Amino acid sequence: MGCRLLCCVVLCVLGAVPMDTRVTQTPRHLVMGMTDKKFLKCEQNLGHNAMYWYKQSDKKPPELMFAYYLKELRENTTVPSRFLPEYPNSTHLYLHLDALQPEDSATYLCSSS
Ligand SMILES: *[C@@H]1O[C@H](CO)[C@@H](O)[C@H](O)[C@H]1NC(C)=O
Ligand SMILES: *[C@@H]1O[C@H](CO)[C@@H](O)[C@H](O)[C@H]1NC(C)=O
Repeated sequence: MGCRLLCCVVLCVLGAVPMDTRVTQTPRHLVMGMTDKKFLKCEQNLGHNAMYWYKQSDKKPPELMFAYYLKELRENTTVPSRFLPEYPNSTHLYLHLDALQPEDSATYLCSSS
């Protein structure tokens, strides 16, 4: 992937192919400078009341970062504070990114259930 080259100078976050066609993640690709603040957005219209952010690094299984179940946040305490989830209502989930580090380059996946 072109990301590999870019990672040397800037951070690259990939929004992956949605796990379900009715779970939409935008943007699909995100390149961040080390001081940028951006966010990933995820939407679902499946009537689910739980939504999740996962991080997938090279060849490793996805790791759960944040889970919201019925508005309640279940946080993975190992996730650095530069990642901040926001769940304004049951259909939208955001992941705010603030001054990410090179090691944050990964694929971030959203899902719902
Ligand atoms: C929390 O994240 C770490 C590293 O990202 C991962 O190894 C661990 O399995 C996660 N814990 C849970 C409960 O998802
Ligand atoms: C949920 O929140 C998003 C973003 O804040 C907003 O665009 C959307 O209209 C809201 N949906 C409902 C059903 O309130």
